[in-house]
Amino acid sequence: MVISDSLTGVLLVGPLKRVSVWQNALNDEDRYLLTIVYAEKGLLGKLPDKGYDVALLDASSFKSPRHLLGAIPDIKAAAIYVFLPGDIPQDKLAQIRAKLEQIPAVKNTFVEAPNLRALLGPPRQRAAAPIPGGNGQSHPQNETPTSSNPLIIAVWNQAGGVGKTTIASNLAYVSAERGFRTLLVGLGTPDYVPLIINGLKKRPNLTGWHSNPTTEGLRAVIQRSSSNLHVIAGFPDMFSESDYQDIADTHPASIPNLANMALKDGYKVIIFDAPPSQLAASAIAAANHLVLVARASQEGVYRTAVAYQTVTEQLEGVYRFDPANIRVALNGLQRGHGLSADIWHDRVAAMTSSFPPVTASIPDFSQVLDIQDKRAFPVQQDSDYRAAITPLANSLFGYQRSKNGQTYAKEKSFLGITFRW
Ligand SMILES: Nc1ncnc2c1ncn2[C@@H]1O[C@H](COP(=O)(O)OP(=O)(O)O)[C@@H](O)[C@H]1O
Ligand SMILES: [Mg+2]
Repeated sequence: MVISDSLTGVLLVGPLKRVSVWQNALNDEDRYLLTIVYAEKGLLGKLPDKGYDVALLDASSFKSPRHLLGAIPDIKAAAIYVFLPGDIPQDKLAQIRAKLEQIPAVKNTFVEAPNLRALLGPPRQRAAAPIPGGNGQSHPQNETPTSSNPLIIAVWNQAGGVGKTTIASNLAYVSAERGFRTLLVGLGTPDYVPLIINGLKKRPNLTGWHSNPTTEGLRAVIQRSSSNLHVIAGFPDMFSESDYQDIADTHPASIPNLANMALKDGYKVIIFDAPPSQLAASAIAAANHLVLVARASQEGVYRTAVAYQTVTEQLEGVYRFDPANIRVALNGLQRGHGLSADIWHDRVAAMTSSFPPVTASIPDFSQVLDIQDKRAFPVQQDSDYRAAITPLANSLFGYQRSKNGQTYAKEKSFLGITFRW
Protein backbone atom coordinates (compact mmCIF):
# COMPACT_ATOMS: atom_id res chain seq x y z
CA MET A 1 0.00 0.00 0.00
CA VAL A 2 1.37 3.38 -0.93
CA ILE A 3 0.39 5.70 1.90
CA SER A 4 0.57 8.80 -0.27
CA ASP A 5 2.47 9.87 -3.35
CA SER A 6 5.33 11.32 -1.42
CA LEU A 7 5.28 9.26 1.76
CA THR A 8 6.72 5.79 1.82
CA GLY A 9 5.70 3.33 4.49
CA VAL A 10 8.70 1.37 5.74
CA LEU A 11 8.59 -1.46 8.25
CA LEU A 12 11.83 -2.13 10.14
CA VAL A 13 12.11 -5.33 12.14
CA GLY A 14 15.25 -6.17 14.09
CA PRO A 15 17.29 -5.72 17.24
CA LEU A 16 17.56 -2.14 18.53
CA LYS A 17 21.16 -1.70 17.43
CA ARG A 18 20.45 -2.85 13.88
CA VAL A 19 17.24 -0.89 13.54
CA SER A 20 18.81 2.31 14.84
CA VAL A 21 21.40 2.11 12.07
CA TRP A 22 18.57 1.75 9.51
CA GLN A 23 16.71 4.57 11.19
CA ASN A 24 19.74 6.86 11.02
CA ALA A 25 20.09 6.11 7.33
CA LEU A 26 16.41 6.79 6.61
CA ASN A 27 15.93 9.72 8.96
CA ASP A 28 17.79 12.11 6.70
CA GLU A 29 14.66 12.54 4.63
CA ASP A 30 11.15 13.17 5.82
CA ARG A 31 9.37 11.09 3.21
CA TYR A 32 9.59 7.84 5.11
CA LEU A 33 6.94 6.83 7.55
CA LEU A 34 8.79 4.36 9.71
CA THR A 35 7.14 1.59 11.66
CA ILE A 36 9.63 -0.03 13.98
CA VAL A 37 9.37 -3.39 15.63
CA TYR A 38 12.27 -4.07 17.97
CA ALA A 39 12.98 -7.74 18.41
CA GLU A 40 16.07 -9.18 20.01
CA LYS A 41 17.18 -12.78 19.42
CA GLY A 42 13.98 -14.47 18.33
CA LEU A 43 11.72 -12.57 20.71
CA LEU A 44 9.42 -11.28 18.02
CA GLY A 45 5.78 -10.77 18.87
CA LYS A 46 2.99 -10.26 16.39
CA LEU A 47 3.88 -8.08 13.42
CA PRO A 48 1.52 -5.24 12.49
CA ASP A 49 -0.84 -6.28 9.72
CA LYS A 50 -0.94 -2.88 8.03
CA GLY A 51 0.46 -2.58 4.53
CA TYR A 52 3.91 -1.18 3.74
CA ASP A 53 5.87 -0.22 0.71
CA VAL A 54 9.08 -1.72 1.98
CA ALA A 55 10.01 -4.04 4.82
CA LEU A 56 13.54 -4.62 6.11
CA LEU A 57 13.82 -7.70 8.27
CA ASP A 58 16.71 -8.83 10.39
CA ALA A 59 16.46 -12.63 10.41
CA SER A 60 17.79 -12.80 13.96
CA SER A 61 14.43 -11.45 15.15
CA PHE A 62 12.86 -14.78 14.27
CA LYS A 63 13.27 -17.91 16.37
CA SER A 64 14.38 -20.06 13.45
CA PRO A 65 14.52 -20.06 9.65
CA ARG A 66 11.19 -21.89 9.77
CA HIS A 67 9.61 -19.07 11.75
CA LEU A 68 11.06 -16.53 9.32
CA LEU A 69 9.72 -18.36 6.27
CA GLY A 70 6.37 -18.81 7.98
CA ALA A 71 6.02 -15.13 8.88
CA ILE A 72 7.00 -13.54 5.59
CA PRO A 73 3.87 -14.39 3.57
CA ASP A 74 1.81 -12.54 6.22
CA ILE A 75 3.79 -9.33 5.86
CA LYS A 76 1.95 -6.98 3.55
CA ALA A 77 4.81 -5.16 1.87
CA ALA A 78 5.46 -4.53 -1.79
CA ALA A 79 9.14 -5.27 -1.34
CA ILE A 80 10.78 -7.25 1.42
CA TYR A 81 14.51 -7.35 2.10
CA VAL A 82 15.93 -9.91 4.47
CA PHE A 83 19.24 -9.64 6.34
CA LEU A 84 20.64 -13.02 7.28
CA PRO A 85 23.34 -13.54 9.90
CA GLY A 86 26.84 -14.19 8.57
CA ASP A 87 27.58 -17.15 10.86
CA ILE A 88 25.27 -19.75 9.27
CA PRO A 89 27.04 -22.64 7.45
CA GLN A 90 27.21 -22.02 3.70
CA ASP A 91 24.98 -24.92 2.60
CA LYS A 92 22.27 -24.03 5.13
CA LEU A 93 22.48 -20.40 4.04
CA ALA A 94 22.05 -21.34 0.39
CA GLN A 95 18.95 -23.37 1.29
CA ILE A 96 17.34 -20.53 3.23
CA ARG A 97 18.10 -18.02 0.51
CA ALA A 98 16.65 -20.27 -2.17
CA LYS A 99 13.41 -20.62 -0.20
CA LEU A 100 13.22 -16.91 0.51
CA GLU A 101 13.76 -16.01 -3.10
CA GLN A 102 10.76 -18.09 -4.14
CA ILE A 103 8.53 -15.65 -2.26
CA PRO A 104 7.57 -12.96 -4.81
CA ALA A 105 7.62 -10.07 -2.31
CA VAL A 106 11.18 -10.89 -1.27
CA LYS A 107 13.24 -8.73 -3.58
CA ASN A 108 16.63 -9.54 -2.18
CA THR A 109 18.49 -11.18 0.68
CA PHE A 110 21.72 -10.01 2.24
CA VAL A 111 24.19 -11.85 4.33
CA GLU A 112 25.52 -9.67 7.06
CA ALA A 113 29.10 -8.73 6.37
CA PRO A 114 31.36 -9.36 9.36
CA ASN A 115 32.33 -5.71 9.14
CA LEU A 116 29.48 -3.25 8.84
CA ARG A 117 31.90 -0.56 7.91
CA ALA A 118 32.71 -2.35 4.68
CA LEU A 119 28.99 -2.67 3.99
CA LEU A 120 28.46 1.03 4.51
CA GLY A 121 31.09 2.01 2.00
CA PRO A 122 32.39 5.57 1.70
CA PRO A 123 30.48 8.28 3.57
CA ARG A 124 27.49 9.66 1.77
CA GLN A 125 27.85 13.01 0.09
CA ARG A 126 25.47 15.73 1.16
CA ALA A 127 24.64 19.15 -0.14
CA ALA A 128 27.49 21.35 0.94
CA ALA A 129 27.51 25.06 1.59
CA PRO A 130 30.58 27.02 2.64
CA ILE A 131 30.45 28.46 6.13
CA PRO A 132 31.45 32.10 6.28
CA GLY A 133 34.39 32.40 8.62
CA GLY A 134 34.76 28.61 8.84
CA ASN A 135 38.05 26.93 8.18
CA GLY A 136 37.59 27.19 4.44
CA GLN A 137 36.08 23.74 3.96
CA SER A 138 32.59 23.11 2.78
CA HIS A 139 30.34 21.61 5.37
CA PRO A 140 27.35 19.29 5.08
CA GLN A 141 24.13 21.08 5.89
CA ASN A 142 21.31 19.41 7.65
CA GLU A 143 17.65 19.95 7.02
CA THR A 144 15.11 21.52 9.31
CA PRO A 145 13.98 19.13 12.04
CA THR A 146 10.44 17.78 11.64
CA SER A 147 8.45 15.04 13.34
CA SER A 148 9.53 12.46 10.81
CA ASN A 149 13.03 13.90 10.66
CA PRO A 150 13.79 14.79 14.26
CA LEU A 151 17.19 15.82 15.52
CA ILE A 152 18.60 13.83 18.38
CA ILE A 153 21.93 15.33 19.24
CA ALA A 154 24.54 14.01 21.65
CA VAL A 155 27.02 16.68 22.71
CA TRP A 156 30.03 14.70 23.81
CA ASN A 157 33.71 14.06 24.15
CA GLN A 158 35.67 11.83 26.47
CA ALA A 159 36.87 14.88 28.35
CA GLY A 160 35.54 16.93 31.23
CA GLY A 161 35.51 20.71 31.44
CA VAL A 162 35.76 21.29 27.70
CA GLY A 163 32.44 23.12 27.38
CA LYS A 164 29.96 20.34 26.58
CA THR A 165 27.28 21.50 29.01
CA THR A 166 27.67 25.12 27.95
CA ILE A 167 27.36 24.22 24.26
CA ALA A 168 24.49 21.74 24.80
CA SER A 169 22.44 24.25 26.79
CA ASN A 170 23.06 27.15 24.41
CA LEU A 171 22.27 25.02 21.37
CA ALA A 172 19.03 24.02 23.08
CA TYR A 173 18.23 27.68 23.67
CA VAL A 174 18.82 28.54 20.00
CA SER A 175 16.81 25.54 18.83
CA ALA A 176 13.83 26.61 20.97
CA GLU A 177 14.21 30.19 19.80
CA ARG A 178 13.97 28.99 16.20
CA GLY A 179 10.63 27.46 16.99
CA PHE A 180 11.48 23.81 17.55
CA ARG A 181 10.00 22.06 20.51
CA THR A 182 13.22 21.18 22.28
CA LEU A 183 14.15 18.84 25.10
CA LEU A 184 17.55 19.23 26.77
CA VAL A 185 18.61 16.22 28.80
CA GLY A 186 21.38 16.65 31.35
CA LEU A 187 23.32 13.47 31.96
CA GLY A 188 26.03 14.86 34.20
CA THR A 189 26.73 13.79 37.78
CA PRO A 190 26.22 15.98 39.70
CA ASP A 191 24.44 17.78 36.92
CA TYR A 192 25.49 21.33 36.13
CA VAL A 193 22.40 21.97 33.97
CA PRO A 194 19.98 22.92 36.80
CA LEU A 195 22.62 25.26 38.20
CA ILE A 196 22.96 27.34 35.07
CA ILE A 197 19.37 27.58 33.82
CA ASN A 198 17.06 30.01 35.53
CA GLY A 199 14.14 28.50 37.41
CA LEU A 200 15.37 24.94 37.22
CA LYS A 201 15.63 22.74 40.26
CA LYS A 202 17.71 19.64 40.94
CA ARG A 203 14.47 17.66 41.28
CA PRO A 204 12.65 16.22 39.47
CA ASN A 205 15.47 14.59 37.52
CA LEU A 206 16.44 11.44 35.62
CA THR A 207 16.03 9.37 38.76
CA GLY A 208 12.26 9.85 38.45
CA TRP A 209 12.31 8.56 34.87
CA HIS A 210 14.28 5.54 36.05
CA SER A 211 11.51 4.63 38.49
CA ASN A 212 8.65 5.38 36.07
CA PRO A 213 9.67 4.98 32.41
CA THR A 214 6.29 5.84 30.86
CA THR A 215 4.90 8.88 29.06
CA GLU A 216 3.54 10.13 32.39
CA GLY A 217 6.86 9.42 34.05
CA LEU A 218 8.62 11.36 31.33
CA ARG A 219 6.28 14.35 31.63
CA ALA A 220 6.68 14.31 35.39
CA VAL A 221 10.46 14.80 35.22
CA ILE A 222 10.41 17.56 32.61
CA GLN A 223 11.00 21.12 33.81
CA ARG A 224 10.22 24.14 31.67
CA SER A 225 12.73 26.86 30.94
CA SER A 226 10.52 28.52 28.30
CA SER A 227 7.52 27.47 26.23
CA ASN A 228 9.70 25.62 23.70
CA LEU A 229 12.63 24.71 25.89
CA HIS A 230 12.06 21.85 28.26
CA VAL A 231 14.73 20.25 30.38
CA ILE A 232 15.36 17.01 32.22
CA ALA A 233 17.97 17.46 34.93
CA GLY A 234 20.66 14.81 35.32
CA PHE A 235 21.65 12.94 38.44
CA PRO A 236 22.07 14.87 41.68
CA ASP A 237 24.81 12.54 42.98
CA MET A 238 26.95 9.50 42.17
CA PHE A 239 24.66 7.06 43.94
CA SER A 240 21.65 7.81 41.79
CA GLU A 241 23.81 7.53 38.68
CA SER A 242 25.23 4.18 39.73
CA ASP A 243 21.70 2.77 39.97
CA TYR A 244 21.36 3.61 36.32
CA GLN A 245 24.61 2.01 35.09
CA ASP A 246 23.31 -1.45 34.28
CA ILE A 247 20.31 -0.45 32.22
CA ALA A 248 20.53 -1.99 28.75
CA ASP A 249 19.54 0.07 25.73
CA THR A 250 16.50 -2.16 25.32
CA HIS A 251 15.22 -1.53 28.87
CA PRO A 252 12.15 0.75 29.14
CA ALA A 253 14.12 3.20 31.30
CA SER A 254 16.99 3.38 28.79
CA ILE A 255 18.09 6.62 27.20
CA PRO A 256 17.11 5.46 23.67
CA ASN A 257 13.62 4.72 24.95
CA LEU A 258 13.46 8.09 26.66
CA ALA A 259 14.27 9.67 23.28
CA ASN A 260 11.61 7.59 21.54
CA MET A 261 8.95 8.57 24.04
CA ALA A 262 9.93 12.23 23.86
CA LEU A 263 9.61 12.13 20.06
CA LYS A 264 6.17 10.57 20.40
CA ASP A 265 5.33 13.39 22.77
CA GLY A 266 6.09 15.95 20.09
CA TYR A 267 9.69 17.04 20.61
CA LYS A 268 11.45 17.86 17.36
CA VAL A 269 14.91 18.37 18.83
CA ILE A 270 16.41 16.40 21.71
CA ILE A 271 19.83 17.38 23.00
CA PHE A 272 21.77 15.11 25.33
CA ASP A 273 24.53 16.70 27.35
CA ALA A 274 26.53 13.47 27.33
CA PRO A 275 29.12 13.01 30.09
CA PRO A 276 32.53 11.36 29.78
CA SER A 277 31.06 8.42 31.77
CA GLN A 278 29.50 5.16 30.56
CA LEU A 279 26.09 6.74 30.20
CA ALA A 280 27.36 8.53 27.10
CA ALA A 281 27.21 5.25 25.14
CA SER A 282 23.42 5.15 25.56
CA ALA A 283 23.02 8.79 24.59
CA ILE A 284 25.12 8.13 21.50
CA ALA A 285 23.07 5.03 20.71
CA ALA A 286 19.93 7.19 20.85
CA ALA A 287 21.33 10.10 18.83
CA ASN A 288 21.38 10.69 15.10
CA HIS A 289 23.80 13.61 15.33
CA LEU A 290 26.90 14.09 17.38
CA VAL A 291 28.63 17.30 18.41
CA LEU A 292 32.22 16.62 19.46
CA VAL A 293 33.47 19.35 21.76
CA ALA A 294 37.21 19.78 22.23
CA ARG A 295 39.89 22.12 23.44
CA ALA A 296 42.50 23.23 20.93
CA SER A 297 45.36 21.43 22.63
CA GLN A 298 47.42 18.34 21.78
CA GLU A 299 45.44 16.49 24.45
CA GLY A 300 42.28 17.62 22.66
CA VAL A 301 43.71 16.17 19.43
CA TYR A 302 44.21 12.74 20.99
CA ARG A 303 40.94 12.62 22.88
CA THR A 304 38.97 13.74 19.86
CA ALA A 305 40.67 11.29 17.50
CA VAL A 306 39.82 8.42 19.86
CA ALA A 307 36.26 9.65 20.41
CA TYR A 308 35.73 10.01 16.67
CA GLN A 309 37.08 6.53 15.96
CA THR A 310 34.87 5.09 18.66
CA VAL A 311 31.69 6.45 17.16
CA THR A 312 32.45 6.09 13.46
CA GLU A 313 34.05 2.69 13.44
CA GLN A 314 32.36 0.52 15.96
CA LEU A 315 30.31 0.96 19.04
CA GLU A 316 29.62 -2.43 20.54
CA GLY A 317 30.20 -3.99 17.16
CA VAL A 318 27.84 -1.77 15.21
CA TYR A 319 28.83 1.08 12.94
CA ARG A 320 27.20 4.15 14.40
CA PHE A 321 27.81 7.47 12.84
CA ASP A 322 28.10 8.66 9.33
CA PRO A 323 30.85 11.30 9.55
CA ALA A 324 28.35 13.63 7.81
CA ASN A 325 26.28 13.59 11.01
CA ILE A 326 29.17 14.66 13.22
CA ARG A 327 29.95 18.28 13.98
CA VAL A 328 33.11 19.50 15.64
CA ALA A 329 33.21 22.45 18.03
CA LEU A 330 36.48 23.84 19.32
CA ASN A 331 35.89 25.63 22.58
CA GLY A 332 37.91 28.03 24.67
CA LEU A 333 40.32 29.13 21.96
CA GLN A 334 42.80 31.67 23.29
CA ARG A 335 44.82 33.93 21.09
CA GLY A 336 48.48 33.03 21.43
CA HIS A 337 47.77 29.86 23.43
CA GLY A 338 47.29 26.28 22.35
CA LEU A 339 46.87 25.25 18.73
CA SER A 340 45.15 27.20 15.98
CA ALA A 341 41.89 25.65 14.73
CA ASP A 342 43.58 24.75 11.42
CA ILE A 343 46.56 23.03 12.98
CA TRP A 344 44.33 21.24 15.50
CA HIS A 345 42.13 20.01 12.66
CA ASP A 346 45.10 18.88 10.53
CA ARG A 347 46.43 16.82 13.42
CA VAL A 348 43.14 15.05 14.16
CA ALA A 349 42.53 14.50 10.45
CA ALA A 350 45.96 12.87 10.14
CA MET A 351 44.98 10.32 12.81
CA THR A 352 41.48 9.50 11.50
CA SER A 353 39.64 9.10 8.22
CA SER A 354 37.06 11.55 6.82
CA PHE A 355 37.30 13.73 9.92
CA PRO A 356 34.76 16.54 9.47
CA PRO A 357 35.76 20.22 9.46
CA VAL A 358 35.53 22.39 12.56
CA THR A 359 32.03 23.91 12.46
CA ALA A 360 32.34 26.26 15.42
CA SER A 361 35.48 27.87 16.79
CA ILE A 362 34.44 29.36 20.09
CA PRO A 363 36.92 31.67 21.78
CA ASP A 364 37.48 31.82 25.52
CA PHE A 365 35.11 34.57 26.66
CA SER A 366 35.59 35.72 30.24
CA GLN A 367 31.89 36.65 30.44
CA VAL A 368 30.65 33.07 29.95
CA LEU A 369 31.25 32.02 33.53
CA ASP A 370 29.65 35.17 34.97
CA ILE A 371 26.59 34.87 32.73
CA GLN A 372 26.13 31.24 33.73
CA ASP A 373 26.58 32.14 37.40
CA LYS A 374 23.60 34.44 36.96
CA ARG A 375 21.78 31.47 35.41
CA ALA A 376 21.40 33.11 32.01
CA PHE A 377 22.41 31.71 28.62
CA PRO A 378 25.59 33.18 27.09
CA VAL A 379 23.80 33.35 23.69
CA GLN A 380 21.20 35.62 25.32
CA GLN A 381 23.66 38.09 26.76
CA ASP A 382 26.82 37.89 24.73
CA SER A 383 26.66 38.60 21.01
CA ASP A 384 30.19 37.23 20.52
CA TYR A 385 29.25 33.88 22.05
CA ARG A 386 26.13 33.82 19.88
CA ALA A 387 28.13 34.59 16.75
CA ALA A 388 30.59 31.82 17.58
CA ILE A 389 27.93 29.15 18.08
CA THR A 390 25.63 30.18 15.20
CA PRO A 391 27.45 28.19 12.47
CA LEU A 392 26.93 25.08 14.60
CA ALA A 393 23.24 25.88 15.12
CA ASN A 394 22.78 26.54 11.39
CA SER A 395 24.42 23.32 10.38
CA LEU A 396 22.19 21.34 12.76
CA PHE A 397 18.86 23.14 12.57
CA GLY A 398 19.32 23.84 8.91
CA TYR A 399 17.50 25.73 6.31
CA GLN A 400 13.89 25.27 5.24
CA ARG A 401 13.86 23.27 2.07
CA SER A 402 11.13 23.59 -0.52
CA LYS A 403 8.80 20.65 -0.63
CA ASN A 404 6.88 21.85 -3.66
CA GLY A 405 6.99 20.16 -6.98
CA GLN A 406 9.31 17.41 -5.89
CA THR A 407 8.82 14.02 -7.39
CA TYR A 408 10.49 11.07 -5.79
CA ALA A 409 11.83 8.02 -7.51
CA LYS A 410 10.85 4.87 -5.72
CA GLU A 411 14.40 4.06 -4.85
CA LYS A 412 16.62 4.44 -1.86
CA SER A 413 20.24 3.56 -1.36
CA PHE A 414 21.79 3.13 1.98
CA LEU A 415 24.21 0.80 3.65
CA GLY A 416 25.61 0.38 0.16
CA ILE A 417 22.42 -1.36 -0.99
CA THR A 418 19.74 0.01 -3.29
CA PHE A 419 16.12 -0.67 -2.41
CA ARG A 420 13.49 -0.16 -5.10
CA TRP A 421 9.72 -0.36 -4.98
N1 LIG B 1 33.86 29.62 25.53
C1 LIG B 1 34.04 29.70 26.85
N2 LIG B 1 34.71 30.75 27.39
C2 LIG B 1 34.90 30.83 28.74
N3 LIG B 1 34.48 29.91 29.61
C3 LIG B 1 33.82 28.85 29.13
C4 LIG B 1 33.56 28.68 27.75
N4 LIG B 1 32.88 27.53 27.58
C5 LIG B 1 32.71 26.99 28.82
N5 LIG B 1 33.26 27.79 29.76
C6 LIG B 1 33.33 27.56 31.21
O1 LIG B 1 34.14 26.40 31.42
C7 LIG B 1 33.61 25.59 32.46
C8 LIG B 1 33.37 24.18 31.95
O2 LIG B 1 32.35 24.22 30.96
P1 LIG B 1 31.24 23.10 30.84
O3 LIG B 1 30.34 23.51 29.75
O4 LIG B 1 30.65 22.82 32.16
O5 LIG B 1 32.16 21.87 30.38
P2 LIG B 1 31.85 20.29 30.40
O6 LIG B 1 30.38 20.11 30.36
O7 LIG B 1 32.54 19.77 29.18
O8 LIG B 1 32.46 19.75 31.64
C9 LIG B 1 32.34 26.29 32.95
O9 LIG B 1 32.65 26.99 34.10
C10 LIG B 1 31.98 27.24 31.81
O10 LIG B 1 31.37 28.41 32.32
MG1 LIG C 1 29.20 18.99 31.72
